[in-house]
Formats: sequence, C-alpha cells, structure tokens
Amino acid sequence: MSYKIKKICCIGAGYVGGPTMAVIADKCPNLEIQVVDIDEEKIKKWNSEDLSLLPIYEPGLEKIIKKCRGKNLHFSTDLELHIASSDMIFISVNTPTKTKGIGAGQASDLRWIDASARQIAEFARGETIVVEKSTLPVKTALTIKKILEVPKAKNSSKKFTVLSNPEFLAEGSAIEDLNYPDRVLIGGDDPQAMDALIEIYSNWVEKDKILTTDLWSSELSKLIANAFLAQRISSINSISALCEETGADIMNVSKAIGSDKRIGDKFLNPGPGFGGSCFKKDIMNLVYICNHYGLSEVAEYWGKVVDINNWQQKRISNQIVEKLFGTISSKKIAILGFSFKANTNDTRESPSIYICKELIEEGGLLSIFDPKVDKKRIELDLGPELNKKDTNNINQGGWIFSNSIKESLSNADAVVIMTEWVEFTTIDWALFASTMRQPAWVFDTRSITNIKAAKKYGLNIWSVGNGEND
Ligand code: NAD
Ligand code: UDX
Repeated sequence: MSYKIKKICCIGAGYVGGPTMAVIADKCPNLEIQVVDIDEEKIKKWNSEDLSLLPIYEPGLEKIIKKCRGKNLHFSTDLELHIASSDMIFISVNTPTKTKGIGAGQASDLRWIDASARQIAEFARGETIVVEKSTLPVKTALTIKKILEVPKAKNSSKKFTVLSNPEFLAEGSAIEDLNYPDRVLIGGDDPQAMDALIEIYSNWVEKDKILTTDLWSSELSKLIANAFLAQRISSINSISALCEETGADIMNVSKAIGSDKRIGDKFLNPGPGFGGSCFKKDIMNLVYICNHYGLSEVAEYWGKVVDINNWQQKRISNQIVEKLFGTISSKKIAILGFSFKANTNDTRESPSIYICKELIEEGGLLSIFDPKVDKKRIELDLGPELNKKDTNNINQGGWIFSNSIKESLSNADAVVIMTEWVEFTTIDWALFASTMRQPAWVFDTRSITNIKAAKKYGLNIWSVGNGEND
C-alpha cells in the first residue's frame, strides 16, 4: 500500500531529535512535526521565548526554530496525543552503554527504546511507520517489531512498519550536516514505507544520496561509520606520541598523509582523545556484538581504538603534572574548553572531564572557562565548585567557574587548551602572558595556538604531537 504522510511525531527532543525535526520542518512546510519528550524541563526550554535558553546550542538552530516553531514545528510532553495522530513516528531516544547487569560497560541500554516501542504500541492508531533514528545494535528492529506485534493481535486496525534511518550528524555542525548530508540511509523491508520516507528527504536531498538497504545493513552501518571515524582519531593520536619523541611535527605528518586521496584529509587532527556521546558507546557496542558472535579477534581489534583513546587522555594529564615540576598542589591551572568539541554545549564523555578529574586528584586548583558550558553542567560532571573565598588556603584540589579567558588565566601557573573553540585559536599572548605566574606553561592539547607568539612572551609550551617547544 502507499502511505500519505501528513503528520510526524519524534520521540526524544535531544541533540538528534531537536535539530533533525527542525530541519525536516524547515524543508517540508506541508508536514506537521511534533517533537515529544518525557523531560518537561527540556520541552519548556524548547518552547522558551528567549532562544538563548534552548536546551542545546547548535550554530544555525535558533534561526530555524524562530522560523518554524509554532507553525509546523511543535514541542510537547503529550506523547499519547501525538503518537495517536501521527502517520510516521521517529524514535530518537538515548541509547547509552549499560552500567550494570549483562553486558555492563559494553552493550547498549535499550530501556528507552523498549519504552518508546511500548508507548507506540499502546497509543498509535491505524497504519504507522516507525523509524529508528537512534543508533542501535544490529537486529534491534526485530525487538521493536515484536513489541509492536502485541496490540496487532488484539486490535486488527493497528499496523506497523519498522524502518531504520540512522543519523550521521555531528554536533557543532548538525544543521549544516542535516542540510547537506553526504548520504541518507534507509533500511527496511517494506518498499512503500521506504518510498514515503524517501519522499520526505527528497525535498532537499538529491536522489543519488539516498541509499536504501535491508534493515540489518542499515543498523550496522551506523555503528561501523562511527568506529571507522574514531579509529582515525586513535591512529593519529598514537602517532602524536611518536612525533613528540622523534621531533617530527604531527601537523606536517597529518597533511602529508591526508593529501593522499585514498586516505583523505578529514579526521586527522590530533587531540586529547575523542569525546562525545557516540564514539566510545558505539565501539563498545560493536565489541559486545562481535564477542556475542564469537569474533574475539575482531572485538579486540576495535577495543584497541578505545584503549588508545584512554591512554592519550592519561598521557596528557601526566605531561601536565610532570612539566609543572611533578606537583600541581595548590597551583592555579586555567582550563579553556569543557565541551567535547567546539560549537556545542554538550560535555558527554568530554576529555576535559577526565583530565580535570586527574588534575584535581593531584591537588590542582582549576579555573574553567567555556564559551557555552554553564556552571551547573560542570558541577554535574565534576562535583561542587570550590567556595571562592577558600581558594587561597586550600590544600586539596578543586575547580572554580570562570567567566572569561582573562579571568581564567590571571595568576595561573599553566593554561590547558582543551577544546578548539575559535576564541582559543586567537588568544592574545601579548596581553595575557604577563598576567600569569612565572614560570608559566601553555599545554595545547589541540595544537591550535600560536606557539611563536606565546614563546615570545616568555611562556613554556607543550603541544600535542610536538611536545615541549624549545
Ligand atoms: P539525548 O539524550 O540528547 O536525547 C534523548 C531524549 O530522549 C532525552 O531528552 C530523553 O528525555 C528522551 N526520552 C528517553 N526516553 C523517552 C521516552 N520513552 N519517551 C519520550 N522521550 C524519551 O540523546 P541524543 O544525543 O539526541 O541521541 C539520541 C540517539 O541518537 C542515540 O541513540 C544516539 O546514539 C544517536 N545519535 C546521536 C548523535 C549525536 O551527535 N548526539 C548523532 C547521531 C546519532
Ligand atoms: C560523531 C560522528 O562524527 C557523527 O557522524 C555521528 O553521527 C555522531 O558521532 P560527534 O561526536 O558529534 O559526531 O562529533 P565529531 O566531530 O565526530 O567529534 C568527535 C570527537 O572526536 C570530538 O571530541 C572531537 O574533538 C574529536 N576529533 C574529531 C578529533 O580529536 N580529531 C579529529 O580530527 C576529529
């Protein structure tokens, strides 16, 4: 049968659900889009008049929200109403790594997927296309289908088709990625339902970029895309350590190898290890699946990508302590950047969290500045902020929130550049070097600062892939 899609509901108003539905609403003015979530606070933020209060920061998002919200794009907590009246339902809920039970530390926690499928089974009416937007272990569509089959047995008017349509956006460039995707992937076994989804994307994506596959290839491709991207970062980070030992420059190596078309120049930037909610979780899930099928060598191979990432973070925090004469107790260390990458307020799995925790453990007094991450978020990640009055006579580590680069660097023994925010690439060392306590250090974990300028003003430098710069 052919489907006519008039109304879409998206379960999950997070980093994927929000921007993805905003772009669909923008490109398809004739569709009504309802984004629903169980988190009332989040929905309030999505509906707030002041657009700076939206729950997520993404360049270009505010403009679309301003244009479409209240017209064909709506945010609501009324799941029952919108599931019941929609022709197509996207599941875009979180799928983090399990923290306990079978597969803890590796397998995906599918409780939110299970709950979403049950909500759909209960509230949906008539014929509904269910689209997996969340990243899922291969064969999850089977579980969803089984949950959806229960009401079918009781009520013949309900009919469901499940499609897989994984999302490839990266945070910080989500709107650009959604507007100009490299490809859209649709997996399924119902050609008419697949056509209905293709029709939606065809409003702005060229037909040859819309790839169709079976369900399992689609689900698995998403995990593998993330694993391959993360593998490149671990590869270049492993070589950053070798460059530091040998005197080779990682940026020159990166450029030289990236110029080979077969290798390509993307995802070859060294750094403090990959963060974000996806890479580690998806690789651990891949490891779990491989072990499940008895492919222990394959599991070990991909597990190493995460091992190198952890090692890179540890090696950077060790460098900081070593260079500061083996002790950072009561030393002020400016931390520039707390999000896991530039242009997002997301801190999930941010390398800053790990490195800050290590430095606090060593007794350092951290002054953290990030252009978009607020104090409340850092408190959730690191524990309570130190009482500012007590910072002069503490003898244990801790952190304080800083409102600017200037405030963060003032009287600091060292500055650690953690995120590649554009304001950190253009720090005016002439202005700030003299405000630091000498001998002062710059630790550039992204190799983005102007080393020559920093050196000119008397600062000691360590940068990833270059090491100590004399
Ligand atoms: P998120 O945590 O930002 O958002 C998920 C939302 O789902 C939350 O607001 C939560 O309250 C809501 N939710 C959970 N269960 C619900 C239920 N039963 N009913 C209604 N709402 C419910 O997560 P995210 O970053 O948007 O990721 C969502 C999925 O997309 C994950 O599977 C992730 O792996 C995948 N993904 C994420 C990215 C990314 O860059 N963040 C990119 C591609 C794919
Ligand atoms: C990733 C994938 O890129 C995206 O396709 C998928 O849908 C979700 O997961 P995201 O995690 O949002 O996106 O950002 P990404 O740009 O991939 O960066 C991930 C981490 O790798 C960040 O910590 C980033 O700083 C780091 N990174 C990236 C590097 O260290 N070096 C690079 O060259 C690129």
